[in-house]
Amino acid sequence: MTLTNKTAIITGGAGGIGRATVHRYVRDGAKVLVADLDLAAAQSVVNEVEADGHAGTAVAHAVDVSDFSQVEQMVQAAVDAFGGVDVIFNNAGIAGGKPLLEHDIEADYHRMIRIDQDGVYYGILAAGRQMAKQGRGGVIINTSSVYGLDAAELSFTYSAAKAAVISFTRSAAYELAEHGIRSVAITPGRVATPIINQFSDELKQTFAAEQMRGRLTDPDEIADVVAFLGSDESRVINGTVVNVEDGYSVFKQRLELPEF
Ligand SMILES: NC(=O)c1ccc[n+]([C@@H]2O[C@H](COP(=O)([O-])OP(=O)(O)OC[C@H]3O[C@@H](n4cnc5c(N)ncnc54)[C@H](O)[C@@H]3O)[C@@H](O)[C@H]2O)c1
Repeated sequence: MTLTNKTAIITGGAGGIGRATVHRYVRDGAKVLVADLDLAAAQSVVNEVEADGHAGTAVAHAVDVSDFSQVEQMVQAAVDAFGGVDVIFNNAGIAGGKPLLEHDIEADYHRMIRIDQDGVYYGILAAGRQMAKQGRGGVIINTSSVYGLDAAELSFTYSAAKAAVISFTRSAAYELAEHGIRSVAITPGRVATPIINQFSDELKQTFAAEQMRGRLTDPDEIADVVAFLGSDESRVINGTVVNVEDGYSVFKQRLELPEF
């Protein structure tokens, strides 16, 4: 198994992409701190892991990633539970937004920046310090979005935060290379999690049509990539963005054109 003897922190571990990644990591041999604002939901994921026959491999932990002291405590909790941190998946985030001119600055800008942007910075900083202290390298994986590369509907703040995540990823790779720590961002497109599932069937079909296979991405498909990125097999991937968006960025829409 590619993640045997690795310990990982997965933030947003109770949500769609995070939960799928917890299951994949445990199946691949890792020990996982399932960190989420929603402790009861994180505990349910741990219960699922145990019901799957992997007792003792996952621990639930309550964290608000927008609070640095809580993020430091989260890292310490992983050290206490499993003896160290080899991988952190900075994945917790919120989505949504309003048209720019209708923004309430606190609600529609600062709150999201604190979670989607500051939360990733805090995870990089706290886990990076721990990994450097351990002296055995490590991997930092950060969830950006296709919206971190594009302007999009109702996405002024979200796009800014997700663009910052890409910048953090590059700079962290540069700064932490001397400690053998890698840093990689992923950009999901349209993934079937509560963020997307809340919309009407019609809108979901439109989202699906934006991807090459004409379907929403399953969270397990993101987890497969995150498992590879956390493993030593991806050791030459560093400081870059791995697009996990099923071709979203390479076309606009399929048109039925007559031959010409
Ligand atoms: N679903 C998509 O299509 C999509 C596309 C691109 C990027 N993303 C990103 O993927 C990541 C995971 O999203 P998801 O689709 O699994 O959504 P989700 O809502 O299912 O999961 C998000 C999880 O983060 C947790 N969370 C929220 N605020 C938190 C905080 N302050 N501290 C700790 N945990 C917190 C939530 O409780 C939830 O469990 C997010 O960063 C999101 O922006 C999702």
